[in-house]
Amino acid sequence: MSDLSPIYPDDALIMAPLSGFTDLAYRRSARKGGCRFAFTEMVDAASLAYANGNGEVLLKRGEEEDFLAVQLVGAEPELLKRACAKLNEKDFSLLDFNLGCPVPKVVRKGAGAALGKNIDRAIECFRCIVKESKFVNTAKLRILDENDPAPTLTLCAGLVDSGAKALTIHGRTASHFYTGDVAFHIIKAVKEAFPQIPVIANGGVNSKESYDIIRRETGCSRVMLAQGIMGNPWLFGELSENRQPPTLAEWKEMVRFHVTQMIALYGEDSAMRQARKIVHDYLKGRGFAAGLRAEASTLSTLNDLDHLLSRTVIGAVSGTIRKILI
Ligand SMILES: Cc1cc2nc3c(=O)[nH]c(=O)nc-3n(C[C@H](O)[C@H](O)[C@H](O)COP(=O)(O)O)c2cc1C
Repeated sequence: MSDLSPIYPDDALIMAPLSGFTDLAYRRSARKGGCRFAFTEMVDAASLAYANGNGEVLLKRGEEEDFLAVQLVGAEPELLKRACAKLNEKDFSLLDFNLGCPVPKVVRKGAGAALGKNIDRAIECFRCIVKESKFVNTAKLRILDENDPAPTLTLCAGLVDSGAKALTIHGRTASHFYTGDVAFHIIKAVKEAFPQIPVIANGGVNSKESYDIIRRETGCSRVMLAQGIMGNPWLFGELSENRQPPTLAEWKEMVRFHVTQMIALYGEDSAMRQARKIVHDYLKGRGFAAGLRAEASTLSTLNDLDHLLSRTVIGAVSGTIRKILI
């Protein structure tokens, strides 16, 4: 397995870590759509340290994956140290630290977005990771204030001084979760303050238009995609290589490929339960009949999926961002 580069080149398009989504099957579909830089799902330091949960599947890397980053979440130096020791047994392109997750079960433990707000503790934890991990270390954080760049810059300065080799900035505060305006000017302030490292802009990119805007407004050439590629892996190729949106046949082939990859990872029963939300995302915003989305929530076998796919016809696609070529 060869790593082309541990850190993103100019214009890199990066697939965000997406908890509950970016497993090997997800990444393989994204890579068919044109994605090169990808993340595992976020892994919890305590689960890794105590070998609870499904760490092995979460961390599974495909033979063909030239670049794969791993992301760790946690707020206890001792657990982070033990988690790093576990990760050191594996091969990743870099290890990123999560300082932005707003979900209650993470924030309750003082991790993710809660840790991002607790700047001294965040830096102590990040230093521990830099010391214990064999990988290049980066961090992904949310802005701390949408009006004032100062607190975000203080956090970033501490991370860079401690050895961060890149920073991804999600331009929304934790209270906004995953929706609403993105504070481009705060991302831009970080980009300008730390010219020595790649700063990656994140938030709200789901089309060529929003991609051009985030690049122009932040000055960042590197962009991380998240909700915009959920059900739309073709967006990578559309943005980076001017590829065309999929035809209906290509769309069907991708959905089936994704689900069969999931079956190979989890077995049919578990895969089909998990595939319901995935198929739902592929159907979303393309003008398909609404009944198909309801049907996606009941998929139990690959046969069910084939039956659903056999009845997809292109509906009123005009006005949707997620086009299918006719
Ligand atoms: C379902 C879901 C899961 C996510 N999981 C993670 C995660 O594990 N780690 C992380 O740093 N961010 C996670 N995020 C946040 C995204 O990486 C990204 O920062 C956020 O969605 C903003 O980008 P967007 O507006 O382009 O979606 C998640 C977002 C969603 C919607």
